[in-house]
Amino acid sequence: MIYYETAGESHGIGITTVISGFPSQLPVDVNFIQNELARRQKGYGSGPRMKMEKDTVEFLGGVRWQKTLGSPIAVLVRNRDSVNWKIQMDPLGDPPPDYHEVTVPRPGHADLSGTVKYQFTDIRNVIERASARETVGRCVAGSFAKMFLSQLGIVIGGYVESIGGITASIEMSLEEKIKEALNSELATFDQEAAKKMTEAIDQAREKGDSLGGTFVVVALGMLPGFGDYNLATKRLDAQLAERLMSIPSVKGVEIGDGFLSTRLLGSEVHDAIYYDEDRKPFAFIRSTNRAGGIEGGVSNGEPIIVRCAMKPIPTLQKGLSSVDIVEKSKIMARYERSDVCAVPRGLVVGEAMMAWVIASAVREKFGGDSLKEVIENYQNYLNYLEDFSKKKTK
Ligand SMILES: Cc1cc2nc3c(=O)[nH]c(=O)nc-3n(C[C@H](O)[C@H](O)[C@H](O)COP(=O)(O)O)c2cc1C
Repeated sequence: MIYYETAGESHGIGITTVISGFPSQLPVDVNFIQNELARRQKGYGSGPRMKMEKDTVEFLGGVRWQKTLGSPIAVLVRNRDSVNWKIQMDPLGDPPPDYHEVTVPRPGHADLSGTVKYQFTDIRNVIERASARETVGRCVAGSFAKMFLSQLGIVIGGYVESIGGITASIEMSLEEKIKEALNSELATFDQEAAKKMTEAIDQAREKGDSLGGTFVVVALGMLPGFGDYNLATKRLDAQLAERLMSIPSVKGVEIGDGFLSTRLLGSEVHDAIYYDEDRKPFAFIRSTNRAGGIEGGVSNGEPIIVRCAMKPIPTLQKGLSSVDIVEKSKIMARYERSDVCAVPRGLVVGEAMMAWVIASAVREKFGGDSLKEVIENYQNYLNYLEDFSKKKTK
């Protein structure tokens, strides 16, 4: 029901995002969108390019006087660096006589497989689009999803849980973890662990190496009933896994305690159901949330919790052995400006992807052409949940 697509290359004019399916009259907070894009650029371990570019949104359609029109929304984020790449990235010109094609693929990137697949001779054609620059468009789309969800009291947040094997481990609520992470350069909630993570990143940088880690994305203010057990593609866990796995360098997605649960007994894993008549609108509660808020592909009203594993950045200053695709000679992969650790930045893209999936499920459930209609349908559902929760005699 909602849809987005991005177009644009890393050193081209910019990244354009076209978004459709949101209701009319949704307030659009440009400062919020800008802030999300700034979060995607920040983070200890991010590379020099992030410091050089400040992403700014330009609305090309679908928004008027700070509200959506219900029509497709188009947003352009220009690549500031494109002025230096005008000739190399010219859509209509010809390669200049002194142009050198990129012929050494970087291991861990799409360089080699993409070049073979599209029958290119210049690996630049792959680098430009396979680069994580594209994720700026996902954050634009995710910002719209977050703005939509906030109208219904659903909040998407997250935190970095580990970097290079160092794990944040202080006990605190999900809300506190998310709040703390917003004030941390590493987007984490444990300041002692953050210090160690910073040192580990510095050491990796000194060695010309890189680091990965895990981040956790969370949806708060959930209601039961989003997603569907009836169709494989509508299962909420499946949709989250697909979108989160689509983030460059994410190599694992875990819903709730997914992998840990394989080592435990069933009685230690499943979340028993209790009744608390004071809990509104849905009185069926859990004292644990190992399922991560989803059972049978449907939200159960508890927070949705998804953990993502990010591999270390593949572009290494110290280089990795590769082979020139023309001469077939052994050569070190070239270094292009690069992050040392992108986990805090990956988290922001992860939040965008989670927001997108939840917004999609909400749109599917409540329909509506205007925001007012969505909210009325949502309110009806709250009334139904309250009624469902009331004690009745059999
Ligand atoms: C926000 C973000 C920033 C990234 N920054 C870099 C980077 O600076 N250098 C790099 O080599 N890879 C970076 N990556 C990872 C690569 O884009 C990714 O590993 C590569 O495209 C290959 O895809 P795969 O790891 O999913 O197989 C970044 C990923 C994300 C999500």
